[in-house]
Amino acid sequence: MTQNLADASRPAVPAAVPAARTTAANDAARGGWWRDAVIYQVYPRSFADGNGDGMGDLPGIRARLPYLRDLGVDAVWLSPFYASPQADAGYDVADYRAVDPMFGTLLDADALIRDAHDLGLRIIVDLVPNHSSDQHEWFQRALREGPGSPLRERYHFRPGKGEDGELPPNDWESIFGGPAWTRTADPDGTPGDWYLHLFAPEQPDFNWDNPAVADEFRSILRFWLDMGVDGFRIDVAHGLVKAPGLPDLGSHDQLKLLGNDVMPFFDQDGVHAIYRSWRQILDEYPGARIGVAEAWTPTVQRTANYVRPDELHQAFNFQYLGTGWDADALREVIDVSLDSMRPVQAPTTWVLSNHDVTRHATRFANPPGLGTQIRTAGDRVLGLRRARAATLLMLALPGSAYIYQGEELGLPDVTDLPDEVRQDPSFFRQAGQDGFRDGCRVPIPWSGTEAPYGFGPNPGGPSWLPQPAEWAGLSVEVQTGDPTSTLELYRSALAVRRAQPALGAGTGVEWLPAPAGVLAFRRDAAEGSFVCTANTTGEPVLIPAPGRMLLSSAEAVETENGVELPADSTAWWAV
Ligand code: NOJ
Repeated sequence: MTQNLADASRPAVPAAVPAARTTAANDAARGGWWRDAVIYQVYPRSFADGNGDGMGDLPGIRARLPYLRDLGVDAVWLSPFYASPQADAGYDVADYRAVDPMFGTLLDADALIRDAHDLGLRIIVDLVPNHSSDQHEWFQRALREGPGSPLRERYHFRPGKGEDGELPPNDWESIFGGPAWTRTADPDGTPGDWYLHLFAPEQPDFNWDNPAVADEFRSILRFWLDMGVDGFRIDVAHGLVKAPGLPDLGSHDQLKLLGNDVMPFFDQDGVHAIYRSWRQILDEYPGARIGVAEAWTPTVQRTANYVRPDELHQAFNFQYLGTGWDADALREVIDVSLDSMRPVQAPTTWVLSNHDVTRHATRFANPPGLGTQIRTAGDRVLGLRRARAATLLMLALPGSAYIYQGEELGLPDVTDLPDEVRQDPSFFRQAGQDGFRDGCRVPIPWSGTEAPYGFGPNPGGPSWLPQPAEWAGLSVEVQTGDPTSTLELYRSALAVRRAQPALGAGTGVEWLPAPAGVLAFRRDAAEGSFVCTANTTGEPVLIPAPGRMLLSSAEAVETENGVELPADSTAWWAV
């Protein structure tokens, strides 16, 4: 007997959209909504363009909120939409309390937050406390007022080394390439002090030893909490405090944006006092407002420090993101992640893609070991097959999962963008090595056969980065209702995750015996148990069927001897 399980023509779950999970009782039962939340990252420049200028905006996002509700996510994280000269796509903030006109107005933000709440979606906004824009009022005044200005104390201004101060104050390099210092001119035009910028020169680092900086950010937190946001994703959360004296590194390779080396400007113990003070503010507000650390640390154990009970709620698990499609490596990182978070009682998070790394469909299309900035398309069929499997594996793990816009469409990175259209500042920096982030930022295809594929209102209209012609076949419109599509796989997976309390909840997995290259684990809950199997090999593998199949990333075949798990596939089972 041969029987197809998870048959493409048979939806694995009822088509009905699950009810939002945001009731107070439901939140309490889950120990806090964020513990098992699926959080969808919207990159505002590229999600939906409401006014047709080629740039995504808040009204565009607002109009697409029902899509996100129907997808089945719990919360939406918005990358920065604040007033910004856009030297680093909005991660250079000139005014933390204003919306950049390219994205809309504060009224649009208010309407977006209200609509999201009405739909049962929570809103997390990005907070960028490590640096401001060089156009920020404080920095501009610091430049204008010259040496001795108290505003200079809010940043890291230093005299240069060398006879005429012509050398940078220390040997730190910018993560985007080149020195981490830029020399200023004094008000009379003569060369003056240098200022520190771990990223682009347009992003001067704040001096967090200055109380005015801490006061200002506490006030900014309150401003957005009063606007009704449910939390903050904290940019470069590990970078705010620098080692006293800003010591030289000695010789060192060019830093990587997503590296995890121990540095005098990363993961200093002093950052934790900041997060403890922020936690007190978050806790003043009703409804569990959360903080999520973007913290690149050498180990998951160090990451756990950011989510101790009196600090933030979640931290991104970049070690997981950096793990290849390999059963042993995945099992190890899953165990270490869960073990590290258990003592601090924080949920583990899982993430495969974001706006800084090559999309996982393209990472897995390439040979392992190339890192997270990949310039080659690789084997797309293989990449998508593995990406679908990796997503089902991620969504079966206990904790909170992050989805980056477009991964639900199986989008690959655009690896052949012409240099003229690129905007990533690190692409243009001297010795910049991580400058390929534009490839994962190309606007979303929603519908139609002509670019911008519904991203903007007008067929043939602009989009700030060009979309490949083949994206017409990957649009939301094309994939909707096609049970073989990646979009319907995500919809089904998120619906099953809601229907199966064992998914997402808890703090551990029970590993089951499995053939080489296959991961199998069990999760138990009062309502029933659940098994996840992931075949990371390039060959089908026969195993005894663990139970009743709920969902599979590829068509599994049941035979007299068991179930054949297709190459590079994940399946979910009710047992
Ligand atoms: C991390 C952000 O995700 C990235 O996009 C940005 O360039 C740097 N932080 C600097 O803000």
